[in-house]
Amino acid sequence: MSYVIGLISGTSLDGCDAALIEIEDENGENEGNGENIYLSAFVTLPMPEALRAKILDCCSLSRSDIRLTCSLNAELGYWFAQAAKAVCEKAGVPPKDVECIGSHGQTVYHIPESEGEWLASTLQIGEPAIVAWETGILVVSGMRAMDMAAGGRGAPLVPYAEYLLYRSEKPRALQNLGGIGNVTGLPAGCKLEEVFAFDTGPANMVIDALAKHFYGLPWDDGGEIAAAGTVNEGLLAEWMAIPYVTAPPPKATGRELYGTQFVEAALAAHPDICPEDWLATATRYTAATMEVNYRRYVFPRCPAREVILSGGGAHNMTLRRHIEQLLPECTVLTQEDLGWSSDSKEAVAFALMAHETVKGRPSNVPSATGAGKRVILGNITPAPFRESRRRPLP
Ligand SMILES: Nc1ncnc2c1ncn2[C@@H]1O[C@H](COP(=O)(O)OP(=O)(O)O)[C@@H](O)[C@H]1O
Ligand SMILES: [Mg+2]
Repeated sequence: MSYVIGLISGTSLDGCDAALIEIEDENGENEGNGENIYLSAFVTLPMPEALRAKILDCCSLSRSDIRLTCSLNAELGYWFAQAAKAVCEKAGVPPKDVECIGSHGQTVYHIPESEGEWLASTLQIGEPAIVAWETGILVVSGMRAMDMAAGGRGAPLVPYAEYLLYRSEKPRALQNLGGIGNVTGLPAGCKLEEVFAFDTGPANMVIDALAKHFYGLPWDDGGEIAAAGTVNEGLLAEWMAIPYVTAPPPKATGRELYGTQFVEAALAAHPDICPEDWLATATRYTAATMEVNYRRYVFPRCPAREVILSGGGAHNMTLRRHIEQLLPECTVLTQEDLGWSSDSKEAVAFALMAHETVKGRPSNVPSATGAGKRVILGNITPAPFRESRRRPLP
């Protein structure tokens, strides 16, 4: 039995999610049915506003600077370590009993494919040596880089865990609603190489930016503002015409397309739309981009009648209503309906992948990332102290 921690701060910059899981795989093999994996504890360490501002500066091509990146790498290391310690405390598991931490880090830039002089590359920061020093636990970090070295896009990585935990005799679609929305298709009784995944479009990124702009709020809690507004069909049609929406997978999007500049340009072009209608339209847009992509690219390969939501957007009731309305043939479930938690899925995934790395097993899904091979992911930072090892040294 192993205790493993997964840490991730996603594109929403809302907080660091930390999951502590228990894995039973005494036989040396992960049976791959998810029945031997338990969530012991989960915490989200809210992101302080000052830290969010620094990360946004670091991600911005016009405002980033190398001294900021250097210092932020260390600052995030301390913050991630704090999240790891908090989840240990909540689970009542001493850090010395933890096998490893899978630390996703904070993505500050991602170039999925080479473009001109820019090589395909990815950068997640949050110094693993600091996480290891502060916790005394071995850290697996930089998990996207090996998939990219193997010719993949480095994303999405979560499908490996989804395959282990959710594959079933029925076809299933797993929809994560983070800053960006992404779907994983698990055809009925699928093999790993039949799993596919791609980003459907924004999930909360545009909604959050509008909630901040009009109301100074971090998000539209429960989707209540959107519920009070009316969808602006003209704006929706304009947004649906963005080529990304109907482009065939594999595809991935992010702040580079749907970040601040996207919202600022839309606000400037439509000065007459009232705040709640902006929120209503952005919320509908998330569901409408899902619908188009499911009909064109998911259902033909995976005729799912169950859509399982995860990520913070699962708490947005207006968004859920739109998804139910646009995909009436599907039952929309959340992680809670399956006995998990919507907020913990990605952190659990990075814990599972770190465990596979420590065991010397691959955990990328080439059919999702485009990598040429299944590879063992990540960089390993050993536990720095003798006494923190689970078994005494000989
Ligand atoms: N109660 C809620 N009501 C509406 N939206 C929520 C709620 N809680 C979280 N969210 C949304 O979820 C986002 C965080 O989701 P998360 O899965 O952590 O995304 P990421 O992986 O991008 O960090 C928030 O920024 C917000 O938009
Ligand atoms: Mg988050």
